[in-house]
Amino acid sequence: MKKINYIEGSPRKDRSHSMKIAKEYLDKVKENNSGIEIKSIDPWSLDLPEFNGDMMNAKYAVIGGVDPSENEKNAWGKVTKIFDEFADADHYLFSVPMWNFNIPYKLKHYIDIVTQPGLSWSYNPDDGYKGLMSGRTATVIYASGDGYSDGTGFESYDLQKPYVELWLTFLGFDKIEKVVIDRTLFSPEDAEKAASDVALKLANVHSL
Ligand SMILES: Cc1cc2nc3c(=O)[nH]c(=O)nc-3n(C[C@H](O)[C@H](O)[C@H](O)COP(=O)(O)O)c2cc1C
Repeated sequence: MKKINYIEGSPRKDRSHSMKIAKEYLDKVKENNSGIEIKSIDPWSLDLPEFNGDMMNAKYAVIGGVDPSENEKNAWGKVTKIFDEFADADHYLFSVPMWNFNIPYKLKHYIDIVTQPGLSWSYNPDDGYKGLMSGRTATVIYASGDGYSDGTGFESYDLQKPYVELWLTFLGFDKIEKVVIDRTLFSPEDAEKAASDVALKLANVHSL
């Protein structure tokens, strides 16, 4: 059975524009793919461990190939538990609000936890970096209060889409699709209609 992990980047839930479009997308995917398994992962309600000294030392122990201390092992255990849940899917749906031109800090915290050597990426001097999440695809729904598309003059302010796309590419995702819902503070109905059309089209072409 195919699995989708839905990462809820917005804390606004019922009032979130990106999550409203995500729900429409998932409803359509469910309609088209009986038996599909969808799991929601909410970084806002997860007990994400602090990325503190032990956590960093555990990460560098993995990179350096040295034995971790007991504290580092414990810290790494928390990371792998969250990563295993993240990795257990074929397709990923992200709802991503723009916050101060970037992404919300809880989503970034989640990304910092799952983006780990030996889990989601690897490095060796001969081949360089390699993403370990290949075989997977992602659909990302980006919401922003204002608009940053080509011709607005504010393209360079948008660190949200380039960052998430770069991250998923680094992890080795095979395919990354996007739905943009912008100007939610100014013309929410128009923004939702346009994004909904794109999201439903994408949902219809997915046979999972
Ligand atoms: C803390 C915070 C920072 C924000 N920063 C920006 C921003 O830099 N640019 C922008 O266009 N909108 C910004 N917004 C507006 C949100 O991007 C907008 O409300 C969007 O619809 C949020 O996604 P959501 O509806 O899925 O929660 C910000 C909102 C919050 C709460």
